[in-house]
Amino acid sequence: MWEYLPPKVRLRGTPCPGEADARRLAEDFESCRAGLPRPLEPYVLETYGIDLASAYGGLKIKNPFGKASGQLSLAPHQVEKDAEAGLGFVVLKTVIAQDRAGEQTMREWAIPETRMLVERIRGRGGVDGWTVTWKGRGWFDTFAAYLALFEEALGIGNAANMPVVPSVKYHLPTPQEDFWKEEEYTFTTDALVEAWRKHYGERPMPLEKDFSPTLAGSERAAQQARILEWLTTVPRLMHRAAPGKVSVGLKIFNTLFEDAFQVAMLQAVQAVPGGEERADFLVYANRLFDPRKQFEDKVGVAYGGPDLSDRNLAVLERFLSAQSRRPPGFAGKDAGAPLLPLSATGDIHSGRMAAEYLLRGASSFQLHTLFQLPDSEFASRSGSKSEKALHHLLFHPTEGFLAWVLELRERFGWQGKANVLEMAEWCRKNWNEVVEGLSH
Ligand SMILES: Cc1cc2nc3c(=O)[nH]c(=O)nc-3n(C[C@H](O)[C@H](O)[C@H](O)COP(=O)(O)O)c2cc1C
Repeated sequence: MWEYLPPKVRLRGTPCPGEADARRLAEDFESCRAGLPRPLEPYVLETYGIDLASAYGGLKIKNPFGKASGQLSLAPHQVEKDAEAGLGFVVLKTVIAQDRAGEQTMREWAIPETRMLVERIRGRGGVDGWTVTWKGRGWFDTFAAYLALFEEALGIGNAANMPVVPSVKYHLPTPQEDFWKEEEYTFTTDALVEAWRKHYGERPMPLEKDFSPTLAGSERAAQQARILEWLTTVPRLMHRAAPGKVSVGLKIFNTLFEDAFQVAMLQAVQAVPGGEERADFLVYANRLFDPRKQFEDKVGVAYGGPDLSDRNLAVLERFLSAQSRRPPGFAGKDAGAPLLPLSATGDIHSGRMAAEYLLRGASSFQLHTLFQLPDSEFASRSGSKSEKALHHLLFHPTEGFLAWVLELRERFGWQGKANVLEMAEWCRKNWNEVVEGLSH
């Protein structure tokens, strides 16, 4: 089991967005309890000079807050509510890949949904948070039903300028297997691209490959060399399945190995010089796995909360520090290759936490657990859970994204309109300055 090492730098205390903005935020937080201003992004730009526009998987998004793949994105009515609330994007529930005959090598992940328990959890750093405990895994209905969901969701999303993308779990070889079942990659990807093209034409379809946390407890993930092999083989097979038509996003999982191996995974993906083996973007990082925790009759379940964000932030820090230590004129394999775009996931329960990931280079944020919390956890009294969550994420006077971005703009001297995508880029390129700035 990995050793717990918290991140070295943190956003501490309360943000100082400046007197006038602080007053405005307090007023907005109060008045927006009855409903968010519409249209949201132009209001934020005009009022605070913050441009929420960003990118996800090569597509423009109006704001960086999206719904992560899971139980809250498996039915059209859920996507409809997210569109109404104004989320930036939605990743659908993970479907288990299949071949033409309907065979699924990863079928053990296609088990029916079970009871979910939303519970409080205390992290190893002593901070309280929330986690969802359950036994369930991937999409359980037929692939045809998933395609129907995708098509309908694309229509809903398109009308609201909210990209909706699929997530797939494809074949990964067990230690006893020395082959990759390519037909699962081809058949599944092709069918999804067909649906996508009806709405987006030739634009490549972002497609997340879910390396789920439960893999960490599986014999498939017992060897480091095997996992590193997955990270280059999977993009190759996904790209080959539909050349030029997919933007491959690897949703990296938290293994049971030490943090140094998590960094090695990021470096391995980054080091691919180009071509079909290189992923197009990363999602970092899926939940933790506790091989000892019992839930009902199952021993070994995934969990989240403060330990998850601590681990993710610490690993991203180590990765960026290693990148910035590379000597001038570094001539390694990935010399000159820009860092892959990063979408963050993991315990993003506040705008403050989103800003923590932004500082580590993330240009979009994917949430799941926050959308499962009881209404009593939110100040907003209007709209769906997604709208309540957006109100909390953006406008909270001390925990909100706007308050923190205003403070960071001041702290790092970002000129003009603070654009989310540009801020994320700046942080990656100037990681040493970020560390320096946060250390005071
Ligand atoms: C109940 C539940 C179901 C999930 N199902 C999936 C899934 O099907 N595919 C996937 O890639 N991630 C899945 N996840 C992971 C989430 O997408 C997300 O990355 C993770 O929970 C971390 O975000 P959070 O801390 O905001 O929950 C699931 C998470 C939960 C809690």
